Amino acid sequence: MTRIRTERRGPVALWTVDRPKALNALDRATLEELLQCCERLQSDTSVRCLVLTGEGRAFVAGADIAEMRGLDAERAQAFSRLGHSAMDALESLAVPTIAAVNGFALGGGCELACACDWIYAAENARFGQPEVNLGIIPGGGGTQRLPRLVGTGAAYRLLFTGDLIGAEEALRIGLVDEVVPAARLEEHVMKLAASIAEKSPVALQLIKEAVRASLRSPLDEGLRQERGLFGVAFASEDKAEGVAAFLAKRKPDFKGR
Ligand code: CAA
Repeated sequence: MTRIRTERRGPVALWTVDRPKALNALDRATLEELLQCCERLQSDTSVRCLVLTGEGRAFVAGADIAEMRGLDAERAQAFSRLGHSAMDALESLAVPTIAAVNGFALGGGCELACACDWIYAAENARFGQPEVNLGIIPGGGGTQRLPRLVGTGAAYRLLFTGDLIGAEEALRIGLVDEVVPAARLEEHVMKLAASIAEKSPVALQLIKEAVRASLRSPLDEGLRQERGLFGVAFASEDKAEGVAAFLAKRKPDFKGR
């Protein structure tokens, strides 16, 4: 049974987590499928942007609590390792990734959204890290990516209280980039993705690499990496095309080389 529906709209890939009866909860099978989808996408150069969303009234309501019930400490660590691998694979994709959060993004769902480059939310979206209410902690990166995105104060609030917040509050704390009426979310995000897909894939990949370096390194090391990647961009055909198109006052046609 497929748990992630994959579609193509030209150069944009649209992935929909598709377990609506369980509010798209992440069980092992879904995480393994996410890993496989990421592996396939890494070798498909025709995809230039990815949009991730959920079927029905949830983006993802967290890890599958029913499946987690029987886990002992060792198997819980293995489950967390699988979650980390899937989220890392998503975060490491060469193409820009956008989470279109259409409803509940809780626990592993909030973590999944945070592993994307950008989060767009429907007006009715709800975010939270309610693990504390189950007597556990986030295991899909929630103690790591969330504070980097919103700062420790807002992260502690979500992690300690387990409270859910709405889309406007998520926008205010910097978790979300834009709030869109629910009926227009997919259309709005797909349009944005299509416009990103026209940019140079080489430049997009190098930007991702440089920004990710900024999260891992002190400033001087990050700047050293930026210089190196700036040089790599100048060796690309896309750079030649982009500059030539500007000077000729025409639209560039980037090939991703
Ligand atoms: N895992 C498994 N099943 C889930 C689920 C989850 N995370 N969230 C919802 N479901 C299931 C419900 O059990 C229910 O199934 P049945 O119809 O078979 O009873 C169905 O989805 C619909 O859910 P509700 O009836 O509860 O719907 P609601 O509108 O009343 O409430 C909700 C919605 C507030 C999201 C509520 O379902 C909820 O609180 N879900 C759990 C949220 C949560 O705690 N997430 C964190 C999980 S732990 C985690 O994610 C760890 C990690 O970091 C990896």
